[in-house]
Amino acid sequence: MDLIEKVVIVTGAASGIGRASARMIAEAGASAVVLVDMDAAGLTETAKDIMAETRQITCDVTDPLALEALYKTVTDRFDRLDVVFNNAGIVSGPPPFPDTDLERIRRVVDIDLTSVIQSSALAIQYMRTNGGGVIINTASTGGLNPYLSDAPYAASKAGVIMFSRSCAELHEQYGIRVNAVCPGVTETPILDKTGGGTRPEWLGPIMEHIKALSPEDIGQTVLDIIKDDNMAGEFVVVQNEPR
Ligand SMILES: NC(=O)c1ccc[n+]([C@@H]2O[C@H](COP(=O)([O-])OP(=O)(O)OC[C@H]3O[C@@H](n4cnc5c(N)ncnc54)[C@H](O)[C@@H]3O)[C@@H](O)[C@H]2O)c1
Repeated sequence: MDLIEKVVIVTGAASGIGRASARMIAEAGASAVVLVDMDAAGLTETAKDIMAETRQITCDVTDPLALEALYKTVTDRFDRLDVVFNNAGIVSGPPPFPDTDLERIRRVVDIDLTSVIQSSALAIQYMRTNGGGVIINTASTGGLNPYLSDAPYAASKAGVIMFSRSCAELHEQYGIRVNAVCPGVTETPILDKTGGGTRPEWLGPIMEHIKALSPEDIGQTVLDIIKDDNMAGEFVVVQNEPR
């Protein structure tokens, strides 16, 4: 799909990968980018860099009614929806698993997996009667490799990969392409949240051997997935290069 004159929703757009991707999607020609996040100030900051029409929607993606309202607002306003990038996400942070608080485990699964499924379902319900579209879900290399200290995150991201793969048939049925992107370690504020405000100790030795990706590296992969009309039910790994 080419992005000229397209309408795109990006969640987690107030920071990191979502912010960079929203900007790059606008630069690629989208007519409107709907920026979604809980962080209103961050959304305003993101919108400053975007030349296309933007709409900032401050909501918690785990609130089912808020997500339904988001889709209604967008489709009523623009009368089209071409691309959804389900990207909002969190890590468990300290203490590491198995000492993670149950409420925090629920929150991680809710944001990182359940909201991705609900948002995709709402997008598919619209796209299947409106000419198809593209959905990209942010997973992680953590969803492919065992990761004990944040096993709830790894399990959620593995779920995102299998969910996206399970949607492959929608391409043939309705022209809807659902795919996942699996970033390696990417330089964004989430790295500090992993350690609860500082970088976790375990990241230090890893970073001695690899170069962190930039949010733009992931944004470029998102653009590549949008452009590739044959890609459906796949996951694309963005690997860190060795130092
Ligand atoms: N940075 C990395 O190394 C890395 C690696 C693999 C995957 N990821 C994934 O990439 C995605 C983006 O993360 P990032 O690295 O840009 O981190 P980030 O912390 O910079 O951005 C995440 C954004 O999601 C928003 N968000 C969190 N919970 C939300 C909710 N309930 N409702 C609405 N918005 C919410 C945050 O406010 C924030 O703006 C996440 O899904 C993350 O798991 C990141």
